[in-house]
Amino acid sequence: MKTKKGEMRSVWRSKETLMMIDQRRLPHSLEVFEAKTLEDVVFCIKEMVVRGAPAIGIAAAYGTAIGIATGCGAGRTSTSLKSSRPTAMDLFHAVDHIIESARSGQNSFIAADSYCEEVVDKCRSIGRHGAGLIRDGMRILTHCNAGALASVDYGTALAPLRVAHQDGRRIFVYVDETRPRLQGALTSWELLNEGIEHRIIADNAAGYYMRAGKVDMVIVGADRITANGDFANKIGTYEKAVLAKENSIPFYVAAPSTTFDFSLASGESIEIEERDEAEVLEILGKRITPNGARALNPAFDVTPARYVTGFITEKGIFKPEDVKRFLGSP
Ligand code: MRU
Repeated sequence: MKTKKGEMRSVWRSKETLMMIDQRRLPHSLEVFEAKTLEDVVFCIKEMVVRGAPAIGIAAAYGTAIGIATGCGAGRTSTSLKSSRPTAMDLFHAVDHIIESARSGQNSFIAADSYCEEVVDKCRSIGRHGAGLIRDGMRILTHCNAGALASVDYGTALAPLRVAHQDGRRIFVYVDETRPRLQGALTSWELLNEGIEHRIIADNAAGYYMRAGKVDMVIVGADRITANGDFANKIGTYEKAVLAKENSIPFYVAAPSTTFDFSLASGESIEIEERDEAEVLEILGKRITPNGARALNPAFDVTPARYVTGFITEKGIFKPEDVKRFLGSP
């Protein structure tokens, strides 16, 4: 991805250290966090130094390699990483994949490098497939950040927008602010770096623009997609999907095969992470709510498959009912 410091990825490795753009500091400061131990990696995933399902998966792949190399053992490594954040499927795939590779005698860091490159390739393909949906002049709404930051490079929901823009199509993006963690600021940071025209809107402005006929398409990412095409994504996605259907706006979900979980029949079984209420009660550590007030903070919601026009994947674009048949297991 383009940054003021040149082309960068959000996660990479330097020898046996995991390097990550610290997403807690963006958009104001571009800092790199160095994780050297299993505990460091678990901290980074929990505290959202690294975030976004594919990027969490890649961090977990390197975290597994670090755990194995530092003598934590496969069992403890797997349990610690898998208990860091429960919803994003990629983390679970990645940990199992690296442990299996280690069991078959492969160097875990090299296995993690290959896992990372495969995910980046998948995102590149998502960009090419998804760009075919985007016509010149389209106005597209996105929620949260499903860009290069969330997937190491290219992005999932943002990948088609990047490709359409690079191909010379004029696009305009509505960027949901995305309370409570405000990941819309990360999306804006990426779009500014790419020169893609956009405006940040308060989450509750989305319906206003949809009803006014000013949104042509919605593209979001996903954290876990079940066999029937239900999917979990950042809290607030469900209401955007319902509003899109009400206003006859196509609603697409972009995700690599590592985000699909065909072991779950439907979204009812997806575990939804509850995060600290301070994320709602405070902004940048400053309390904005009355002392003594309490909050609820589900990090994700589940959108039923009937609201999804199509899944944009590395293998093509599929209707929810076709996804299992065409995608199989990753
Ligand atoms: O809590 P986060 O920021 O890790 O959640 C990420 C999302 O929900 C994103 O919207 C995304 O679609 C999944 S990552 C491409």
